[in-house]
Amino acid sequence: MNKITVIGAGNVGATTANVLAHKNLAKEIILVDIKEGVAEGKALDMWQTAPVNSYNSKVIGVTNDYERTAGSGIIVITSGLPRKPGMSRDDLIAVNAGIVKEVTEKAVKYSPDAIIIVVSNPLDVMTYAALKASGFPKHRVFGMAGILDTARYRAFLAEALNVSPLDIQALLMGGHGDTMVPLPRYTTVGGIPVTQLIDAEKLKAIVERTKQGGGELVKLMGTSAWYAPGAAAAQMCEAIVDDQKRVFPVCAYLDGQYGLNDLYIGVPVILGQGGIERIIEIEMNAEERKDLDSSADAVRVVMKVLDDMKLF
Ligand code: LAC
Repeated sequence: MNKITVIGAGNVGATTANVLAHKNLAKEIILVDIKEGVAEGKALDMWQTAPVNSYNSKVIGVTNDYERTAGSGIIVITSGLPRKPGMSRDDLIAVNAGIVKEVTEKAVKYSPDAIIIVVSNPLDVMTYAALKASGFPKHRVFGMAGILDTARYRAFLAEALNVSPLDIQALLMGGHGDTMVPLPRYTTVGGIPVTQLIDAEKLKAIVERTKQGGGELVKLMGTSAWYAPGAAAAQMCEAIVDDQKRVFPVCAYLDGQYGLNDLYIGVPVILGQGGIERIIEIEMNAEERKDLDSSADAVRVVMKVLDDMKLF
């Protein structure tokens, strides 16, 4: 790909750009920020790792210069405030909705054919804001959360079972909040159902820890995570650039799937060159369905806050 733009040079944006560069995913990776010098400095620092880490992607930082982002194939939006201890992701909406709207409008002016990946919180609703602000079709606007949340779940399971995290395959659905829905029935270890390898209590504890996984890190660091979020966003870019048709949980716009309408929420999709190429509808039992509905309700509460802001 010629160009990928990452908006927001905070911890998540900078990490995303860094992973993209290491994967050599674009000729140019443009890092944009509003604070004079920050994106330029971080990009320069990254570019100076190219000779050591053997990649060619040129990392370029700019302050508010959207013209420089023109013709991007992918725009990753990470702008906005991160959480502080005691805050939920939803508390960020008042500030972040306006920011996401503004950066999306500026970016799409110069890259009308791009795919947009939203990372800003509250994720599901910020992705909706980017859809509205861009006017793009829904298969080209989606959010990163499922890969991150599933990665946390997989990492916890790998540790508990003392197996490679590579061999844990798992699915997690719902909103990117404490109501997210890890799905043990859709979790395997090298093809073996996880329920055969771990006792129910331990698995339950891991599911709960996963739901609070972001909050655990906010408590430890005083701000939200970046290594895993950045890696997850970059993995989505890779699936698109290389047209991999990967099956990932992604925050996608639903219009009827799972009986849900006009809502962004995490569901399994096929991700390739065209963006979301298909939303996969899995079978759910009554309990899983109830959990997904509760998660959708939680997202709708925040959607209502966005509606009341009358930004669109
Ligand atoms: C997290 C933030 C990025 O879950 O939402 O760490």
